[in-house]
Amino acid sequence: MRVLGLESSCDETAAAIVEDGVRVLSDVVSSQAEVHAKFGGVVPELASRHHVVNVIPVLTSALAEAGLSLDDVDGIAVTRGPGLVGALLVAVQAAKAIAFSRGLPLVGVHHLEGHLSAVFLDGPERAPRFPHVALLVSGGHTSIIDVRGHGRYRLMGATRDDAAGEAFDKVAKLLGLGYPGGAVIDRLARGGDATALKLPKPMNRRGDLDFSFSGLKTWMLTWVREHGVPTGQTLADVCASFQHAVVTSLVTKTREAVAQLAAEEVQLAGGVAANSRLREELLRAGEEDGFRVFVPPPKRCTDNAAMIAAAGYHHLVAGERAALDLNADAALPLPGDP
Ligand code: KG4
Ligand code: ZN
Repeated sequence: MRVLGLESSCDETAAAIVEDGVRVLSDVVSSQAEVHAKFGGVVPELASRHHVVNVIPVLTSALAEAGLSLDDVDGIAVTRGPGLVGALLVAVQAAKAIAFSRGLPLVGVHHLEGHLSAVFLDGPERAPRFPHVALLVSGGHTSIIDVRGHGRYRLMGATRDDAAGEAFDKVAKLLGLGYPGGAVIDRLARGGDATALKLPKPMNRRGDLDFSFSGLKTWMLTWVREHGVPTGQTLADVCASFQHAVVTSLVTKTREAVAQLAAEEVQLAGGVAANSRLREELLRAGEEDGFRVFVPPPKRCTDNAAMIAAAGYHHLVAGERAALDLNADAALPLPGDP
């Protein structure tokens, strides 16, 4: 079954065609990062407008890249939430229009279920088995999830304030490193001393799997007010220390979740999974505690539509169908989460 995936929940307009939930025939992403960079964050109204302009060209490119036409598509999967409602609506409306005009089955997909499905696009030997623990870290989410099967998830912990990527981006802005700044902090931190600054340890209570990053952000703000915006080696040390604090929190809670479930496998998903220190530390924790770690390649960690098509495939095969009154839901709960 060839599934057309469409995604427009934040600032990426994406379309992809995936066969049987595992083979990527095309994967096209148009990023608006440059549009929002000068504002230091995503401007919802601008995001919606750019999705409207980009959605048809992106869809056309995805069909061309696969060498297919809409006649070759067997079903459509679209992100229906969570996300920016005006942004989500663009792909949802496009998907409904195609489904109606072509008489194709349609399903709405939870954006995080998409992220959790990216790992299955690398072939069975590079995919985790069920059940496993997922650490999902992006610009909008920081969650630990008990993944019982396709479409069966239980949220074990989440951030109480900022998402990990959001914390990286806000601190990068504070340090004058542009937007989005997570990757810049990662790069600068490689030359820095992670023990130079003593940041507080956030939400350190044993057994509690929730996160909080706003305290780290405030601590950094106070530091910059007292010391000024750092440069050179000090900047590298500041980046390394901040990154160390975030990564330590993420890895500590993931270890705790693995221990609670006696899990053997962990997947790392979302845009922050690109962080080199996080990958290293989680792999090291896996070696020490005896769990295997699976991470999709970087381009599948950030927002894309191949992951949405992969997730939607399982819903379509199960016979699920969305009606043409399918609506975007900015606060959609994760499926299977009681
Ligand atoms: O998953 P994603 O593309 O978008 C959302 O759904 O939010 O994640 C984007 C986030 C941004 O906050 C970006 O700064 C962060 O991922 N990010 C990183 C790195 N690469 C991207 N954060 C830390 N280190 C990185 N190397
Ligand atoms: Zn995302």
